[in-house]
Amino acid sequence: MHAPDKHHPNTVGTSTWAVHGGNKVDEGTGAIRKPLVMANSYLLPEDPSSMNWSDTSGPLVYTRHHGANQEALEEKLAAAEGGEAAAVLATGVAALHGLFFTILKTGDHVVVSNVIYEAVYRLFDELLPEKYGIEATFVDVSDLDAVRAAIRPTTKLVHVETIANPTTKVADIRALADIAHAAGALLSVDSTYTPPPAYRPLEHGADVVTHSLTKYINGHGDAMGGVVVSSHELIGRIRGEAIVDVGGVISPFNAWLIVRGSVTLPLRLRQHYSNAAKVAEFLANDPRIAYVSYPGLESHPEHELARRQFGDFGFGGMLAFAVDGDSDAQNRFVNHLRVITSAVSLGHDESLIAHSGPGARGGAGGYPEEFQRYGHLRLSVGLEDPRDLIEDIRYALDYVFGEAELTTVSGTVDSTV
Ligand SMILES: Cc1ncc(COP(=O)(O)O)c(C=O)c1O
Repeated sequence: MHAPDKHHPNTVGTSTWAVHGGNKVDEGTGAIRKPLVMANSYLLPEDPSSMNWSDTSGPLVYTRHHGANQEALEEKLAAAEGGEAAAVLATGVAALHGLFFTILKTGDHVVVSNVIYEAVYRLFDELLPEKYGIEATFVDVSDLDAVRAAIRPTTKLVHVETIANPTTKVADIRALADIAHAAGALLSVDSTYTPPPAYRPLEHGADVVTHSLTKYINGHGDAMGGVVVSSHELIGRIRGEAIVDVGGVISPFNAWLIVRGSVTLPLRLRQHYSNAAKVAEFLANDPRIAYVSYPGLESHPEHELARRQFGDFGFGGMLAFAVDGDSDAQNRFVNHLRVITSAVSLGHDESLIAHSGPGARGGAGGYPEEFQRYGHLRLSVGLEDPRDLIEDIRYALDYVFGEAELTTVSGTVDSTV
């Protein structure tokens, strides 16, 4: 048993590390917050003549390779996920691409969930096969026999999301890790919907974790970033190949903002999850809703898995649902929300909703029948009072179904909207 030390993650709890991780007293000024370092270059040693300019493990040299604020964010996130090391990049997609670009080569094969963030779908469906000859099979990862059957001798990677965007399908990380490892492949897990302390995939057999830092980890909707957490060996290669030689580096300012935003992650996440459960329950009990997909509902196909896997923390802050009506009804509903904002992204402090019609691409064929029939409204439940969110939804539903004349503080809403 160690005495707690805020600079040593193994000796402190999650909330203590969320506050202190990545922060140190600045030696130059004595400031107790890590300053923002916007320099492109760092002072070279007296004799730099034999330096390896691509080596990112030594002193800081150039901000495209590594910088003081990036280093602080990486230290914080590696420990938060229980990994050896982390590499931060400009966006979540840059992190995912950096991972795939580094570990895959021509002839390699990847098994990918058939519900996956759209940019990842496009990478494996079009770009990586066409440009690099990397092959992918999209598979329903809730069918473990189908995952086993999709494995080939050339399979190097299985890639899934803990809770998938947008359907909220839940992946069984332990079972998928066993299948990947039996085939000599790695399991990479996009845990954007379930950042720590909600879940830590590395503790359950995953080899690599990625996040869009743009979402819950920053949490304030004002900076983009992405991270890959894994072994020293793999992260060193990602730095060397995908960051130093390809770019995609995060700006020091965004890294600094994300360290600051992540201080309140454990607190915020509890509120997001608790609000989402209340909103899901309301939607599930309103007959004007065609369907609602949320892992906390008993009706969700992977509800028991989610309970087992995520334990007491809860079932996420993201929902997908549709109003019982056509695409026009979904739009009228969204356009009459007064608290929830119609915008993409998720995990921000404010609630965000985005309507995708039934004609939307539908991932890699893994959208359930009701998503294809009605389209879906992806709702990222924010930190507002849950009562306001529910009333906002109720009033917009009343409008769509002709049960109320909507009023706002400034008067009657234009019913032609
Ligand atoms: C699950 C998931 N992964 C990755 C990304 C990509 O992140 P970014 O927009 O930061 O590139 C997103 C964005 O919505 C996402 O939802």
